[in-house]
This record gives sequence, structure tokens and C-alpha cells, in this order.
Amino acid sequence: MKYRRLGKTELNVSVIGIGTWQFGGEWGLNFSQDEVDAILDKGQELGINLIDTAECYGDHLSESFIGNYIGRRKREDWIIATKFGHHFHERFTRTDMYGAQDVLKQLDDSLKALQTDYIDLYQFHSGPDTAFDNDELWTVLDKQKQAGKIRHLGTSIGSNDNLHQTEASSKVNSEVIQVVYNRLDRVPEQRVFPSCETQDLGVLARVPLASGYLSGKYKPGAVFDNTDVRHRHDPESTRRKLEEVEQIARKEVPEGVDMAQWALAWCLRHPAVTSVIPGCKNPAQVESNASAAELVTD
Ligand SMILES: NC(=O)c1ccc[n+]([C@@H]2O[C@H](COP(=O)([O-])OP(=O)(O)OC[C@H]3O[C@@H](n4cnc5c(N)ncnc54)[C@H](OP(=O)(O)O)[C@@H]3O)[C@@H](O)[C@H]2O)c1
Repeated sequence: MKYRRLGKTELNVSVIGIGTWQFGGEWGLNFSQDEVDAILDKGQELGINLIDTAECYGDHLSESFIGNYIGRRKREDWIIATKFGHHFHERFTRTDMYGAQDVLKQLDDSLKALQTDYIDLYQFHSGPDTAFDNDELWTVLDKQKQAGKIRHLGTSIGSNDNLHQTEASSKVNSEVIQVVYNRLDRVPEQRVFPSCETQDLGVLARVPLASGYLSGKYKPGAVFDNTDVRHRHDPESTRRKLEEVEQIARKEVPEGVDMAQWALAWCLRHPAVTSVIPGCKNPAQVESNASAAELVTD
């Protein structure tokens, strides 16, 4: 594994992390604790130390799986990133909850679910600018930092061209940007990444496999089960993406290199990007994704 400094947080994170939206049950699979244990054990064995989760991957369900695991392992071995801003109701249904008092409750629920006293990175979860531009929210969060419940604040921007929230990071003491970035979607290179570099923000590239499409295993016309979030993607847009993936596989991926690994290493080549956080469904995917670090040159 390779490690990098997560911007001004000074956290030393593995370049490959583990995304855990999947544990909430919106990707066609319901997970058992044993399956989650096996994924996280494999990650640790291969040097991964970064987990990304959220309040609304299930109703704190993904966090509960992780907390159950961490409760039986060493807390300090992991850098845990979670998020705030929603209440989960049922599969694919959540409501926004960005008010300062709502967020305080979510923070306590996350700490409880994660079976920990502190969160390493607490991220604003892709909310609108009106919710972000609320001084009371950031003041309350700062107090939670002082109380030791949060080590660092971050922002997971919704649109990957959200310059407003990116530029305001230093003002609200948010030290990390999480953003959609992958070989099919390079928008952050234009405005968001330069701002991150200027402010010395850490950058977590989310959806680095374009929801799995960049693994190369799906062909145009692929159909997903209605319990899989990809069933909700616009079919025409998915078809175009998968056609582009076929071209990229032919023209850009070196012979003999696994496309998913290549796609992760591709994200990590940009100097603004600290780590990628691919969603993982089993230990074999963790192993394959961890190996992408071997394709990274610095
Ligand atoms: N707003 C936000 O803050 C936000 C939004 C989205 C995601 N996220 C975070 O970012 C993480 C990553 O995004 P994502 O999970 O949406 O998309 P992703 O990482 O691009 O794709 C994940 C999917 O790719 C497939 N996959 C993973 N590793 C593979 C491998 N080695 N070979 C082949 N297929 C592989 C798996 O699905 P199949 O095997 O079924 O194809 C997996 O579920 C999430 O888990 C979450 O933590 C945050």
C-alpha cells in the first residue's frame, strides 16, 4: 500500500480506501456482519486504513456494521470518515436534515453506531449551498471538535463543479473535499482541484469506478436488479458510458492490466487527489482495488 498526507489534516491515509455505501443495502445485496468483517479484515491485511461511510447508508446501518467490527479490533488502526445531513427512511428514500440541532443528533447517533468516541473526518453530505452557508452549523461543529468528538471537518460536494462550497472550505474550517472523479467524469480538474490545491485541502475521489462501469465487466445494454441503485440510472446515459468504457479499454488500458485497477490508478495520477474510495462488495474486490496502489508511481 502507499500512503499520502490528506491535505492540511496531516492524516496519513492509504491511497486506496474502502467506500461503504454498499453496506446499507442499496446495491442489490444485504450484508451480514461476517461479510463486512471479511471485507474490512482484507483491507487491513493489505494496508488500507481509510473507510468512508455516511449517516444514510441505511439508517446508520453501514456505520453499525463498521462499529461492530471496530469494537472488536483496534480503533486507532482506522481513519473513519462519515457524513451528516440526511435522515434515511427506506431504500432510496431520505430527507435532508442540515439544521445545526439535527446534525448534533446525527453526530451522536453516528458515534453510537460506530462504537467510538471520535470521528476522524465528518463531512457535509452533498447538501445545497443554502444549507452550507449557515454559520450556526459550522459554529456548532467547531464546538464538537473542541469537545473531541470530531477530529476534522470535510465537505462531500454534490455537483462535482461546486466551486462555492470548495472555495468556502478554509472559511468554515473544512479541510477535505470529497468529489465524484473518474475517467468518465473529469469536471473537477477545471475548477475544484485548483482550488483544493491552493487551499491545501485533501481530496477523496468518490465513485472512482463510475459505479462499477469502469471495471470493464458490463457491456452496453447491461440491466440491473431494482434493488441495485444502478437500476435508477438513466438507461441511455448508462449505455453511452459503457460504450465509452469499451473504447477506453481498447485505446488506453495496457494489455494485461485489470481495468478496475487501471481506473483507480488513473484517478490517483492527478496531483490534487489524495485517495480513492471505491465501493467494495467482497474481499476479492478489496484485494483487486488495493493492488491498484502498485500502479501508482508516487
Ligand atoms: N454524496 C456522497 O458523499 C457519495 C455519493 C456516492 C458515493 N460516495 C462514497 O463513495 C464510495 C464509492 O462510490 P460508489 O460505491 O458509488 O461507486 P464506485 O466505487 O465507482 O463503484 C463501486 C462498485 O464497483 C464494483 N467494483 C468495486 N471494485 C471492483 C473491482 N475490483 N472489480 C470489479 N468491480 C468492482 C462493485 O459493484 P458490482 O460488483 O456490483 O459491479 C461496487 O459496488 C461509496 O461507497 C461511498 O462511500 C459518497
